[in-house]
Amino acid sequence: MTEGSIDSRNLPEGEERVWLERARAGSVPRHIGFIMDGNGRWAQRRGLPRTEGHRAGVESLRALIPALIDLGVPYATFYAFSTENWKRPSEEVHFLFDLLVQYAKEDRRELTERGVKLRAIGQVDELPGAVRAAIRELETQTSSGTNLTVNVALNYGGRQEILRAAKDIAKSFAAGQIDLDKLSEAEFAARLYTAGQPDPDLIIRTSGEMRLSNFLLWQGAYSELYFTEVLWPDFRPVHLYKAVVDYAGRRRRFGGVTA
Ligand code: IPE
Ligand code: IPE
Ligand code: MG
Repeated sequence: MTEGSIDSRNLPEGEERVWLERARAGSVPRHIGFIMDGNGRWAQRRGLPRTEGHRAGVESLRALIPALIDLGVPYATFYAFSTENWKRPSEEVHFLFDLLVQYAKEDRRELTERGVKLRAIGQVDELPGAVRAAIRELETQTSSGTNLTVNVALNYGGRQEILRAAKDIAKSFAAGQIDLDKLSEAEFAARLYTAGQPDPDLIIRTSGEMRLSNFLLWQGAYSELYFTEVLWPDFRPVHLYKAVVDYAGRRRRFGGVTA
């Protein structure tokens, strides 16, 4: 793939705009999921500690928010920390949490001004107090945003999410509140973190890995998948626009036949 060699920061502004216009002209996803991968490799290739890759990755996230709004994408989910990421060295885990607290403080104003509604999805209650507090505050402050809903998947795992919904249903059943024979997919989905949101039309994973790593397993049943060699800290709006142009050229059948 050639995209990896493009450093969009050096692109003439006009070229980025051309891709934005092309993306806008086609079918724009209502919800895009981002598996932000490759921070560690980005840093290692520069002889830096992995943590510097995470720091650089925050800039990619920052740059994408206005791009998603420009494009008219109403929902985005960013995979920031999986239920499996606890396996990493504790210094790295804590660096990630500190980065998140810093982001929540530094970007609160900009997010509010841009009309972003930010929510954390995942087992947030298991996170350190400072992280929970920063997240809750950011959620409260941005709760009236209407331009873009951003889900930050934090201590998130698709299996955990499905299991949690199943347990919730079991409790309602035990309390005599639901008829299992009538339970629908929609009612099940209403117990997921993404209740009320459209399923992701497109899931983008950076760094060349081609797997879901436990991301939006239920919601992604019919998502279009887009993999790029670009490492997350190098991912810029132009890469998003290219992914959306690619998406618009696909034929989604949902098990049916193409007209
Ligand atoms: C993604 O980058 C960030 C998180 C999982 C938090 P990685 O840290 O997984 O980077 P690589 O895959 O090791 O390069
Ligand atoms: C997936 O990336 C999780 C996040 C991006 C937060 P990983 O780097 O943890 O995934 P694997 O281990 O390569 O599958
Ligand atoms: Mg990785």
